[in-house]
Amino acid sequence: MIRSEVLGCGAYLPERIVTNEELARRLDTSDEWIVARTGIRERRIAAEGEKTSDLALRASEAALQAAGVSVDEVDLIVLATATPDYTFPSTATTVQAGLGMYHGAAFDVQAVCSGFVYALSIADNFIRAGQTGTALVIGAETFSRILDWNDRGTCVLFGDGAGAVVLRAAEGAGNSSDRGILSTHLHSDGRHRDLLYVDGGPSATQSVGHLRMEGREVFKHAVTNLAAVVNEALIANGLDADDIDWLVPHQANQRILDGTARKLGVSPTKVVSTVARHANTSAASVPLALAEAVGDGRIKRGDLLLLEAMGGGFTWGAGLVRW
Ligand code: UT7
Repeated sequence: MIRSEVLGCGAYLPERIVTNEELARRLDTSDEWIVARTGIRERRIAAEGEKTSDLALRASEAALQAAGVSVDEVDLIVLATATPDYTFPSTATTVQAGLGMYHGAAFDVQAVCSGFVYALSIADNFIRAGQTGTALVIGAETFSRILDWNDRGTCVLFGDGAGAVVLRAAEGAGNSSDRGILSTHLHSDGRHRDLLYVDGGPSATQSVGHLRMEGREVFKHAVTNLAAVVNEALIANGLDADDIDWLVPHQANQRILDGTARKLGVSPTKVVSTVARHANTSAASVPLALAEAVGDGRIKRGDLLLLEAMGGGFTWGAGLVRW
C-alpha cells in the first residue's frame, strides 16, 4: 500500500513581535483579558511589503532542507491560504517560481484555518493515487492584512506565519504501524458561513474586506466538531486516545485546545501549544506547531500525531500521522 511519508518540516515567522501590551496602548483591551480568554501573549506581524508568498517560500526552503530533498524532486505544491498575495495567480505558483521550480503543478487551497489539513489530505490522495511522488504542502497566511484593527473582538486573536512539510510516496504494510499519513478526514458545513467570514471579495464587493466573527458561537462549534473528527480518525484506524503521542491542533485559543483535549481524555502534556507566541495563524498554525515540536525534539520518529483544525466555512478536519 502506498503511504505518504513526511520527510521533513519547516516554518517561518515574520520578525516583528506585537505584544498584548502594544495592542492595549491603542485599543480598549488588556493583556489580562487576552491571556485569560485566549492564552495569547504575542503574535508576529509581517513587515510592510512582506507577502504570504515570502513567508511561504522561507518555510518551504526550511522544509526541503530538513527533508534533504531538492526542488527537482518535488512534483506537486499545495498551498493553503485565505490571504493570497493576489486574487490570481495562486500564491502556490509564486512560491514555485521562487523555488526555481519549472515543472510539476502548484495550486492554492482555500479552507481558512482548516486549510493545512485540507492541503495535506489532497497531497496524500495525489500520492496514494500514484499521480505524485514528492509533494510540498504549505500553510501560509498574513491575516494582519484582513483584520479590522479597530475591532478588539477579532484583531487581538490573529498573527502571520508559514509552515510546510515534504511528503513522499513509500510502501507501507497498510496498518497503523506504517510511517506516514494513516488517514485524513475532512468536513464542511456552509450553513455557518455568517459566524466567521470576510466581508469582502472580488466578485461580491470588488474589495478585500475584513474578518468578522461571532467568537462565542464559533468556540462552541469548534470544541464539538474537533472532538468528533478526532474520534472519527481514531476509529478509522482502530486506535484510541491513549495511542496518541502528540496532539498537534490548530492554534485558535488555549481554551479550545484544553477543551478538546479534555473531551478526548488526552493529557495536556501531549498537546503542542504555540498559541501564546503565535496567536491564530489560520492555515499556518498546524505546520508551525509541528515544526516547533519536531525542532525541539519532542516529536520523535515513530510517534503517532493527531493533527486537527477548524475554521471559516465552517470547515474542519483531522489527520493521523506516524512520524
Ligand atoms: O480559527 C478559527 C476559529 N476561531 C476560533 O476558534 C475563535 C473562537 N472563539 C474564541 O476564541 C472566543 O470566543 C473569543 C476569544 C473570541 C472571545 O472570548 P469569549 O469568552 O467568548 O468572550 P465574548 O466574545 O463572549 O466577550 C466577553 C466580553 C464582551 O463584553 P460584554 O459584552 O460581556 O460586556 C466583549 O465585548 O469581552 C469583551 N471583549 C473584550 N474585552 C477586552 C471582546 N474582546 C475583547 C478584548 N479585550 N480584546
